[in-house]
Parts: sequence; C-alpha cells; structure tokens
Amino acid sequence: MLGHTPENSPFLAACRRRPHDRVPVWFMRQAGRSLPEYRAIRGTGSILQAVRDPALATEITLQPVRRYGVDAAILYSDIVVPVAAVGFGVDVRPGVGPVAEQPFRDADDLDRLPPFDPDVHVPYVQETVRLLTAELPVPLIGFAGAPFTVASYLVEGGPSRTYTRTKALMLGDPELFAALLGRLADYAIASLRAQVAAGASAVQLFDSWAGALHPAHYTRHVLPHSQRVFAALDDLGVPKIHFGVTTGELLPLLRDAGADVVGVDWRVPLDAARTRVGDGHALQGNLDPAVCLAGWDAVAAEATDVLRRNGGHPGHVFNLGHGVLPETDPDVLARLVDLVHTWSDTTDER
Ligand code: CP3
Repeated sequence: MLGHTPENSPFLAACRRRPHDRVPVWFMRQAGRSLPEYRAIRGTGSILQAVRDPALATEITLQPVRRYGVDAAILYSDIVVPVAAVGFGVDVRPGVGPVAEQPFRDADDLDRLPPFDPDVHVPYVQETVRLLTAELPVPLIGFAGAPFTVASYLVEGGPSRTYTRTKALMLGDPELFAALLGRLADYAIASLRAQVAAGASAVQLFDSWAGALHPAHYTRHVLPHSQRVFAALDDLGVPKIHFGVTTGELLPLLRDAGADVVGVDWRVPLDAARTRVGDGHALQGNLDPAVCLAGWDAVAAEATDVLRRNGGHPGHVFNLGHGVLPETDPDVLARLVDLVHTWSDTTDER
C-alpha cells in the first residue's frame, strides 16, 4: 500500500482537508455483499451471530482491504447491534434488514431500551476492533446508526418506504419521540467511544433514512440528537463522517450536526454539494452504485466526472453514493480503486 500506515493515511488527511498524494477511496457496504470469499465463510443465520465472532468479523472486514486496496476498512457489524444487545427484540433478516417483532409503540417500550454499556453488552465488538487494528495497513472506520434511522426500524418494525409511523410519532408525540431518540443517541455515543478506545481511527454516523424528512422537521426533532452524538466525540480527535441518502435539501444541516465530513449520495453533483456544504468541510461520495453494473466504460466515465467535479479539493473521500449493490462484480470495484488512485487533476486521464 505504498507505505501508507493508519497514521500517514490519505483517507485521514482528506477527512481533515490536508494535502495528500492521492484521492482516497473506500466503499460503503464493501464488507460482505458481492464478495465470493464473504459468502464462503459467512455461514447462515443472522448477521448478528456473525458479528459476535471476532475472528470471523475480523476476516470479513479484511477481505475487501486485501481484494480492492481501499484506503480504509469499515468494521463488519450493523447499526442495530446495540439495540439487539440490550434485548429490545430486533433481528436482521437476510434479504430484508432489521425487523422488530414488537415495534416501539408507547412510553412503556422505553423500558426495553435500558442503558447500553459496550463492555457488558457487546465486548465482542471491541475485541474485533482490537484484532483489526493490530493487523490493518489502513485506518479502521467505526460506525453507529444515527438516532433517527435506528428509531425508524424500531417504530416501523422493519424497513419502510414512507416512515409513516415514525413521522406520526415524531409529530403526534414529540416528547416520547425525543425520549426515544435521546436513548438511541446515548447508545451511539457509548458505542462509538468504545470503538475508538479499542482502536478505530475515524467514525461514521449512518442516518441513512433522514432524507425522508422535511428540513424543518429534521431541524426540530432529529438534529439536536445527532448534534449531541457528534459533540460527545469531540475530545477523541478522530474524523467524524455524517451520511444519509436523499439528503440534498439537508446537506447544510448534516454539516451543522458537527461532522468533519459530509456524505453525499449520487442525486446531487459533487460540485453542487460543495456549494451547499461550503469549503470548511470534506465531502465523501458520490458515484451511483448502479453505475458499477453498467460496464467498465460507463464506470470510468462517471467516476471521472465525480473526480472532475471535486476539482482537486483536498477534502474529498471517493465513495459510492450508497452501499455496494450485491450483484456488483468485485473486479469492477478493484479497477475503480485503481482509477481513483491514479487519477490526477493535471493529466485528467480517461
Ligand atoms: O461493509 C460495510 O459497510 C460494513 C458493515 C455494515 C453492515 N451494515 C453489514 C451488513 C454496515 C456499515 C451496515 C450499516 C447499516 N445497516 C445501515 C446503514 C448503511 C446503509 O446502507 O444505509 C443500515 C440502514 C443497516 C440496516 C441493514 N442491515 C440493512 C438495510 C440490511 C440489508 C438487508 C439485506 O440483506 O439486503 C442489513 C443486513 C446487512 N448488514 C448485511 C451486511 C453485510 C447483508 C446481510 C448479511 O450478510 O447478513
């Protein structure tokens, strides 16, 4: 890896908008999904079981680093690991996502969200982080689900297109909604602090579904909780990334939550995102994951367009606009990493 170490890494430099020698790249959902070596060792059952096995979770996290030469690893885990570990009653169904048999309905359900202590509830996560940081040639990104996105699974009982129950609770009983998000913010804080203490070099807060909200509703009912999460990490000194999809209208608010890096999905051109977020923050993104299924010429053209729109700004971490699609050919991602690493503004090869 060109002598890069977690300390001297293009990824961490780009997060901090400091000069570095090549555009760093990693892929959301790079662990698992399209890799045959993942399917070979993953076994059956819930991902929550696989996450409880540090040796297995370590190997799965390392696979894309070896295969693609990406500039960062992302911990193999899931955003519902803390709520599952405290016993709320949530599982992750293959092909479906997180499912809660008894969704969150009223104040009594707060009792199913007791204080979360990572050392008691998820010691295996910190063990995986320790195993990884002893071995990784690149920084490890720790992560947590943002209060709103985790709440959406608990309230809806599973994945949703419309988030109607979640919005009904948010607007119909704002106090209970705030109590729920407050607990989930505590979980995210404890979880991220424990991952950094165990060796993670950066953190990402996934508010994947926040883009479903009106900006005023986001500002009033969600932003304060995510702000509290980021503020509680300030003393750790690690870069903080904030990500969601369909967040075009929310980008300045995601920035105001306190992240150093704002994730951008493919619906907003990177230069337009820069205008909305301003120069004081780094951006991460934003190739449409579907482009990776369209053949190499399309991948090269679209990836080059993303890089050109960045215009050589040091604060850019190349990524997809959302996670790797399961049907993606791993060879395309490997070639894409090479393209990003060898691209330069001056030659603009293509
Ligand atoms: O590679 C990585 O990104 C690291 C591990 C990771 C997983 N989930 C593993 C996983 C991360 C960072 C997540 C975060 C996550 N989980 C998010 C936020 C990111 C995003 O994509 O917006 C969300 C919304 C979830 C909830 C969740 N878990 C969903 C929607 C699914 C997909 C269900 C499916 O099978 O299509 C999961 C399951 C899951 N989490 C898988 C993986 C590799 C796939 C199933 C499996 O192998 O068990």
